Amino acid sequence: MTLTIGVDVGGTKVAAGVVDDRGRILEKVRRPTPSTSPHETARVIAEVVELLKSRFGEVEAVGLGAAGFVDESRATVLFAPNLAWRDEPIKKKVEGEVGLPVVVENDANAIAWGEAKFGAGRGEDHMILVALGTGIGGGLILNGELYRGRFGIGAEFGHYRVVPDGRRCGCGNRGCWEQYASGNALVAEAREIARVSPALAGRLLELGDGRPEGISGPEITEAAREGDSAALECFRTIARWVGQGLADLAAILDPGAFVIGGGLSEAGDLLLGPTREAFENALTGRGHRAFADIRIAELGPDAGIVGAADLARSR
Ligand code: BGC
Ligand code: NA
Ligand code: ZN
Repeated sequence: MTLTIGVDVGGTKVAAGVVDDRGRILEKVRRPTPSTSPHETARVIAEVVELLKSRFGEVEAVGLGAAGFVDESRATVLFAPNLAWRDEPIKKKVEGEVGLPVVVENDANAIAWGEAKFGAGRGEDHMILVALGTGIGGGLILNGELYRGRFGIGAEFGHYRVVPDGRRCGCGNRGCWEQYASGNALVAEAREIARVSPALAGRLLELGDGRPEGISGPEITEAAREGDSAALECFRTIARWVGQGLADLAAILDPGAFVIGGGLSEAGDLLLGPTREAFENALTGRGHRAFADIRIAELGPDAGIVGAADLARSR
């Protein structure tokens, strides 16, 4: 049995696990992402890898999932719209410290691979993963393989322009899908309702300690589960953007299934119901074609670890 380590490097935490060839996590550790410099982040990655390695001697490689554009040699984070990483040679830095081969992947590609092989995408040769969190991550499985594009940075669905001259995005453009359909967009929507129509947002404000800025994603889900109409309205608004975006992706790629991951996917049916409805209303050629299935990811917050570890195994 070969073991590899998968590391999910996000804006707030570095989560790592030792994974076997059936996608099972044997042990997991996490650390906060240092807010200081990308160099510090490389050190924290090396530290968690060393720790896991010291407990499982037979580890043969490390896969890193990073929230940004990764070059085709899977070594450098070229650009990260929501992080400070610019042309960061992360493979070299981490390999230098841990003495194991390191493969760098886009975070959403790693999730897509994990879900395709061990989760909600099993058996689907044409699958699209969208991870709805701070931004929107995309992963594309075509003919059973992870599609990276010519330069390694394909499937950046979050920066697909849905509104010409729309909201400003961390990538420098305007109107990107992730400004309308991400977990952050849901929070922005709820805070706006609370600011503009406090009378309608009593429950949301209560959960947010009385301030619009106090309202967080899980609290919006909680309120929606209770049936709060403002929270439900937020979900409908975001789900409309999600479903329309999926319809546009289906027009281009015609997948068998969409798998929804990321923090927002924890809302489950609250998100899926209105997303499916928006998708079916927007899909071109509806009535004359099959609707791709839309499902929630199965591996939850571990998908990135499992996917990155498996990609390192088959490097
Ligand atoms: C980045 C992607 C990343 C996604 C999720 C987007 O803003 O461009 O590279 O996969 O956020 O972290
Ligand atoms: Na991607
Ligand atoms: Zn963008």
